[in-house]
Amino acid sequence: MPNKSMTAVIYVIFLIPVKTRVKYFLKTFDSVKNNSTFADSNNIKLYMTVTSTMHIEVKKATQSRLAELNTENLGFGKIFSDHIFVSNYKNEKWENPRIIPFANFEVSPCMSALHYGQSIFEGMKAYRYSNGDIYMFRPLENFKRFNQSAERMAMPSVPEDIFMEGLVQLLRLDKNWVPDGESCSLYIRPVAFATEAHIGVKISDTYDFMIITSPVGAYYSQPIKVLVEIHFTRAVPGGVGFAKTSGNYGRSHLPTKLAKEKGYDQIIWTDGYSHKYLEESGTMNLMCVIDNTLITPELHDTILNGVTRKSVLTLAREDLGIKTEERKVSVDELVNAHNKGTLEEMFGVGTAATIAPISLFGYNDKNYKLPPASEHSIGSRIKKELNNIRRGKIADKHNWMYKV
Ligand code: COI
Repeated sequence: MPNKSMTAVIYVIFLIPVKTRVKYFLKTFDSVKNNSTFADSNNIKLYMTVTSTMHIEVKKATQSRLAELNTENLGFGKIFSDHIFVSNYKNEKWENPRIIPFANFEVSPCMSALHYGQSIFEGMKAYRYSNGDIYMFRPLENFKRFNQSAERMAMPSVPEDIFMEGLVQLLRLDKNWVPDGESCSLYIRPVAFATEAHIGVKISDTYDFMIITSPVGAYYSQPIKVLVEIHFTRAVPGGVGFAKTSGNYGRSHLPTKLAKEKGYDQIIWTDGYSHKYLEESGTMNLMCVIDNTLITPELHDTILNGVTRKSVLTLAREDLGIKTEERKVSVDELVNAHNKGTLEEMFGVGTAATIAPISLFGYNDKNYKLPPASEHSIGSRIKKELNNIRRGKIADKHNWMYKV
């Protein structure tokens, strides 16, 4: 026999119009089917685990290369796991999702991406917890940004199930490639590019989407020296600076080479009009600490909306009680703060680089040294917090980790 409160609930349910009840049932059924458990601020569905029925053909490598892996000396991006995920776009749809052994492949010399730059990518990481479980860090943020880049480059978006299920199945198959160790992780590189063989300038009709993975160590092994670039330009408003597209990286090689010849490791881009305001470094977003406040250039369409940038700001503000500001930062402000002794720290933040301390910046033929980072530095404290979350050592209260 139902008790009083159950009777009351049943009574209330019957007061709701039948149409609303059916609609609610279908919605719930749909979300259970997709295992969609929460939505992010942009109202994009976030899946906690992937349970779609999409079929991915798997062709396993006959011989794993894992035994050759030397985890003591991983470096960055030189070693690739046994398999890759691939899907092809033609006739206006993505098809043939499959996992195949990592190998070279043939392309037409006229492949459109080689000539006209319709090519985008992402950078993300997976970590091994001490119990052996594998987790990715905020993959849905990368998924969203991948499709924002696709839209800007007039490329077809990749559906969430292909992106996420491709990722999960690939990582499950190559889980032994996720290295253990303090600064080690599996770097994940989703990439899409135009494949149509056509020399005329046009939007390609065909594309490939691939996910490559690579066990990596630290991107920078020591604090870096950076040169504030005031001649060359990375991005201007209305351009493609916010997109992770190959041309943004191609244009950085010459200025970086010239900076390296002068003894720097990396450049810091400034705005394309006045060269007075800091933008990003090209491999990372940029942060500085002036008078105990963590300051970073505000986002606009010339700057990559970094997932690490966003996470660092959240940790600083919400978890560590550090004052943060997202605003324009001029090079003059940096120089003045340095002269007054209030420029306490500078560091880059990015997926590959994580949090990379800057030891010195060069500007107008002068070098400005920064105090060495200590364990009490804001950058070090945030890095520790972030690493502890990524390795499952502290509670993941922001729900950033995604179990594979
Ligand atoms: C990343 O941080 O993932 C990047 O894409 C930067 C660089 C390796 C290109």
